[in-house]
Amino acid sequence: MTQTFSPELESYSLSEWKQGYDSQPHEDDYEITEIEGQIPADLSGTLFRNGPGLLDIAGTPIHHPFDGDGMISAFTFQNGKVHFRNRFVQTEAYQQEQAQQKILYRGVFGTQKPGGLLNNIFDVRLKNIANTNVIHWGDKLLALWEAAEPHSLNPNTLETNGIDYLGDILKPGDSFSAHPWIDPSCEMDGGDPCLVNFAISPGISSKITIFELAPDGKLLRRHSHSIPGFSFIHDFAITPNYCIFFQNAVSFNPLPFLFGMSGAGECVEFQPTKPTRVVVIPRDPNNRNVKTFEVSSGFVFHHANAFEKDEKIYIDSIAYASLPQVQPNTNYKEVDFNSLDPGQLWRFNFNLATGEVNKKLVEPRCCEFPTIHPEKVGRDYRYLYIGAGHKDTGRNAPLQAILKLDWQTGETQTHSFAHHGYVSEPIFVPKPGSAQEDEGWVLTLVYNGQNHRSTLAVLDAQNIEGEAVALLHLKRHIPYGLHGSWSDKVFSKTSAS
Ligand code: CO
Repeated sequence: MTQTFSPELESYSLSEWKQGYDSQPHEDDYEITEIEGQIPADLSGTLFRNGPGLLDIAGTPIHHPFDGDGMISAFTFQNGKVHFRNRFVQTEAYQQEQAQQKILYRGVFGTQKPGGLLNNIFDVRLKNIANTNVIHWGDKLLALWEAAEPHSLNPNTLETNGIDYLGDILKPGDSFSAHPWIDPSCEMDGGDPCLVNFAISPGISSKITIFELAPDGKLLRRHSHSIPGFSFIHDFAITPNYCIFFQNAVSFNPLPFLFGMSGAGECVEFQPTKPTRVVVIPRDPNNRNVKTFEVSSGFVFHHANAFEKDEKIYIDSIAYASLPQVQPNTNYKEVDFNSLDPGQLWRFNFNLATGEVNKKLVEPRCCEFPTIHPEKVGRDYRYLYIGAGHKDTGRNAPLQAILKLDWQTGETQTHSFAHHGYVSEPIFVPKPGSAQEDEGWVLTLVYNGQNHRSTLAVLDAQNIEGEAVALLHLKRHIPYGLHGSWSDKVFSKTSAS
């Protein structure tokens, strides 16, 4: 997995890349023994990953990977050893479709039930596919999908408990986004950590609900705000005092969806000429002073971080100048990366006193899935880690490298897994007792298109360019995933209670 290819060639092979979207129906449970390098003895805890595990139902391909059934992977690090386990989230829809071996539900991104228009018309039942993120909070392992309730799982065995209403915080039919943040030290709670998340009820105007949960999972604060216009908001950012939402300029026409011709996601169209509305909501529920700004940002899925400084809110985000609409009759695997705009890292700032807005392109190379030191969430910070293309082509590209950015010096370092490797979202894990912000490891799951298997790479965050600290080779591949998280707790079957 080193860079041993000619520079004049493409850094990847599209046919190899596509195989990363093959389904993985197997559920495994074993200690990883095929290891290059050395697993750090002080790296102790559990890495959880989520993403679509099935890209077909009984041989019928789904239309978009975002419609794929959620599969959780867990890597448990203890005493220099790593145990791997993967399990599908046993959602009701997954169980029904596997029992009947056919597609029974419509997907948001265009997967249709067979039988054409008549079988899909006015059928607005959606699969709660639990495939976007996984987080351990309030003594629960939660698989998250933004349009519905979370599922909870046993963190030791990954067995599904079922839909989880977080005590009585949620009601049936509520949603809970897949992008919570953990505020490492919440001023409203005397410096205790808290989990901040949101839910969107889209419509002609959209309701944003903000939830803040204590470490024991109890509700600390909940408040809702109505904003004009339809919203497609996947992620947000927090500071000690604010939640920040980018309301992408999109239009939504629900008619093709209701008439069974498209998935709801296909009815969302990005309007690149219209500005993005940036909604800044105070986290204190008693402060209803919501501020909005307008900026031409392009389309934003993910934010890296935000912080307050000198009356301004700074926010670092990945933006696309244009985004193709999900089309009904196209195959997501037949992508021409060079025809698509890259995701690029921008720094925005919004002056709360004057309303002034600034933006700056920071990293032109195609990148996506940022991560930072968990203690720096909502604070001014120095280091950012992100999945990136092998080189800057000015265009979109598959993510093959991990890029580290030093905001102080502007320097970047990369570790590329080209020609055969394709990275996933990196996760930064601080070294126990560390003093410096980049003292720790960056973990990323890498799909290897040559041997059709996946490898968990452990990189030294202070020397990203250097040789990997450890490469942990799995027996099979894990399809390209979405998000995940690190827990300092060692979850394993032997610790199951
Ligand atoms: Co996301």
